[in-house]
Amino acid sequence: MSDQKFSNAMWGGRFASRPDAVMEAINASIDFDRKLYAQDIRGSLAHAAMLCDTGIIGKQDHDKIAHGLNTILSEIEGGTFQFSRSLEDIHMNIEARLKEIIGDAAGRLHTARSRNDQVALDFRLWVREELQHTIASQNALMKALVDRAEEHAATVMPGFTHLQTAQPVTFGHHCLAYVEMLSRDRSRASGALARMDECPLGAAALAGTGFPVDRHQTAKALGFSAPTANSIDTVSDRDFAIEFLAMAATCAMHLSRLAEEIVIWSTPQFGFVQLSDAFSTGSSIMPQKRNPDAAELVRAKTGRINGHLLALLTVMKGLPLAYSKDMQEDKEAIFDAAQSLDLMLTAMTGMVRDLTVNKAAMKKAAGSRYSTATDLADWLVRSLGMPFRDAHHVTGRAVALAEERGCALDKLGIDDLKSLHPDITQDVFSVLSVAKSVKSRTSYGGTAPVNVRKQVKAWKRRLAKA
Ligand code: ARG
Repeated sequence: MSDQKFSNAMWGGRFASRPDAVMEAINASIDFDRKLYAQDIRGSLAHAAMLCDTGIIGKQDHDKIAHGLNTILSEIEGGTFQFSRSLEDIHMNIEARLKEIIGDAAGRLHTARSRNDQVALDFRLWVREELQHTIASQNALMKALVDRAEEHAATVMPGFTHLQTAQPVTFGHHCLAYVEMLSRDRSRASGALARMDECPLGAAALAGTGFPVDRHQTAKALGFSAPTANSIDTVSDRDFAIEFLAMAATCAMHLSRLAEEIVIWSTPQFGFVQLSDAFSTGSSIMPQKRNPDAAELVRAKTGRINGHLLALLTVMKGLPLAYSKDMQEDKEAIFDAAQSLDLMLTAMTGMVRDLTVNKAAMKKAAGSRYSTATDLADWLVRSLGMPFRDAHHVTGRAVALAEERGCALDKLGIDDLKSLHPDITQDVFSVLSVAKSVKSRTSYGGTAPVNVRKQVKAWKRRLAKA
């Protein structure tokens, strides 16, 4: 290793010796921030072009710098670039190599710039791309759910409260509940994108710069609407990263709920769905098993995303302005959360697309546990003009009677029903079946198949535009 290959050599003058090995170990971020190489080079190219256009550096130097940076890009992508831990981070690894390739002109690139605005830019660019990718993955899962909802607009299943059979619902309606959640997650992602649409470059270390930089030029070149307005905030701010994690944690929480339902539904006891071979595993000892490992892991990965959100909030809490090295701890949290969320969304899309729905088992369960009791009470209110509370009481007695007879509500004889209230007529049977129950729930947002079909149509239209 040459004498120059450690980071103290980069800031020369005051530092006579290289850092302690432990200092290097705690300080270096290259093992993870090398992920930012493309963003770092893109930012440097835009910065160099602006320095040239404003006359801060000469055209020859600019051309050398641009050529050198592009060479480095191909070296990294071709796997021939030598990353060095002693050069601390991605920024200094690239700058040191630039010097090897183009010589002294490399030293001009860092004019009117600091690693503080540089890292704020690189990381923002990375998070921005990841948010766009997340939105695409959320759309894919929403599409899969909408397709299943269309197919199962009239498939009945028990709806639960307290995980106890409550009222019959349609499986399509249940699928669309997750589409609603995902659409809120997607809007959190686009909200975060809109708020981070400002370019940090030019804030320099914290105070801005005396060079006549054109921050609007670099902002535009890098696809931002404007430069950030306050240099101190610019280098201190990691809200965009925290917002990514908050969105990811909320989305993961939603996915974990669907994952948990898939775990429950696929047990032999429920038997509502069967996961495809592609998304289940067997047991090494029990040949009959089909385990929902992918769903379980989606459920579990939520934990690490929550942890990352809490970790970054804790790193940032109480940090005085402006930049502190603490902020280097932001990256691993996001990298891991982004990778996890992406896997979760993709695995969930596969599971949802592939799973077999056992309509017969759902229908049977939908009719069990007197799930249409509310429909009976509603009939008493509507047809006999009873106050709901009294109707609730009469229905309770009907349930007790059905329990005693060991039959479903709609299998009670008319005489049994008349014994509870003499005005009850045959007409009551028109509301007691599961299919009739869901069909009647036409209030806006209700579970009726006509509603589900309308919602599916609306979602298809919106998703086609996404
Ligand atoms: N590797 C550093 C980080 O990720 C880059 C910024 C370093 N700035 C500094 N003043 N030491 O935060």
